[in-house]
Amino acid sequence: MTNLGSLGPTGPARLEAAARSAMSGHVYDYIATGSGVEETLAANEAAWRDLLLRPRVLRDVTTVDTSTTVLGTPVSAPVLVAPTGYQRLVHPEGEVGMAAGSARAGSLLTLSTRATVTFEELVEVSGPWWLQLYILRDRGLTETIVQRAAAAGARALVLTVDTPYVARKARRTPFPPDVVSPVLVPELQARDDKGVWQDPGVTVADLAWLAEISGLPLVVKGVLRGDEARACVDAGAAAIWVSNHGGRQLDGVVPTATALAEVRAAVPEEVEVYVDGGLRTGRDVLRALALGATATFVGRPAVWALATEGAAGVHDLLVSLRAELEEAMALAGCRTVAEVAPDLLHP
Ligand code: FNR
Repeated sequence: MTNLGSLGPTGPARLEAAARSAMSGHVYDYIATGSGVEETLAANEAAWRDLLLRPRVLRDVTTVDTSTTVLGTPVSAPVLVAPTGYQRLVHPEGEVGMAAGSARAGSLLTLSTRATVTFEELVEVSGPWWLQLYILRDRGLTETIVQRAAAAGARALVLTVDTPYVARKARRTPFPPDVVSPVLVPELQARDDKGVWQDPGVTVADLAWLAEISGLPLVVKGVLRGDEARACVDAGAAAIWVSNHGGRQLDGVVPTATALAEVRAAVPEEVEVYVDGGLRTGRDVLRALALGATATFVGRPAVWALATEGAAGVHDLLVSLRAELEEAMALAGCRTVAEVAPDLLHP
C-alpha cells in the first residue's frame, strides 16, 4: 500500500466549511441546497453509513490495487467527478480547474451541459471526460452540442433523465446566481429563450436518437428503479447511473444506496452501473462497490474542493478518497476492485 494522505474523519465537513468561507452565502446555498424539505439530501449520506461492513481477515493484502475501468477507460480508482453546473461561480478556473485536477488524479470528469467553459478550453487540460447532456427543447441545439462534444473527444454521453423540470429548492437562491453564463456553445447563453430549457417531453425513444447522432456510448443518469434501468438498457443504454441528483429533484425519493441493489439486479451483469449521492469517504465507495457499483461519482465534495484550491484542491480530494478506499479495501481483505463483493455487507 502506498501511504497517501487522507482527509481524516472530519474531512468532508472541514472541506465544506473551508469552501463556505470562500464564497458568498447565495452561492453556498445554491450548491448545498436540496429540493423540498431536503429529506433526500439527508437520507443519501445516512443510507451509506447504515450499511455495516463485514471485513474478511487473513487475506494477503500486501498489495492493494484500486484501479479499474469505466466503459473501457482506465481510471486510478472508482472515484469519479459528477457533473455540476456553473463551476465558475466558485473558482475562476471553473471546469478547467476541475478537469485538470481530475486528470492529475487519474480520474474521469463529467462535464455539465451548463458548463461555464468552452470545449476548446476544456480539452487543453482534460484527461478522459464524458459529456452530461440535457435534451433541450431546441433539438437542433441539442444535436449541435452532442456533435461538438463528440468532435472534441467526449468518450460517452450521460443523459440526465431526472430533471424534466428543475425542482424548487429548499434554500431559495436566484437560479443560477446571476454572475456566470453557460458557454459550452454560444447559444446556451440565451437563458430567456425557452429553447435552452430541458425538454419535458423526452421519452425512452430518444435514447436511440442520441446514440445515433453521437456515435458514443450512452449512460442514463437519474434512474432509481430496476424496471426503468432495464428499459433503458433494452433501448440501447450502455450503462446506468443511479442518482437522485444529490437530493435536488423529487424530494422523498429512495436514497441511492438503497436503489443501487435493485438496479444492479435488474440489468445484465456486463452492463456497468454507477452511483452518486452522499458518498463522502472511501468507506462509502467500498460500500457502493459491494452493492455492485462499477464506479462512484462525487458532486458537492468536488465543488467544495474546487472552491478552496482550484485544480490542486480537486486533485487532493480525489487522491484522499482513493487513499481511503485503498485503506478500506486492505482492512476488509480485498486486493482488487473485482474482489469487493456483496458478502462484505451485513445483510
Ligand atoms: C448538480 N447535479 C447535476 N447533475 C446533472 O446531471 N447536470 C448538472 O448540471 C448538475 N448540476 C449540479 C449542480 C450542483 C451545484 C449540484 C450540487 C449538483 C447533480 C450531480 O451530478 C450529482 O448527481 C449529485 O451532486 C451527487 O450528489 P452529491 O455527491 O452532491 O451528494
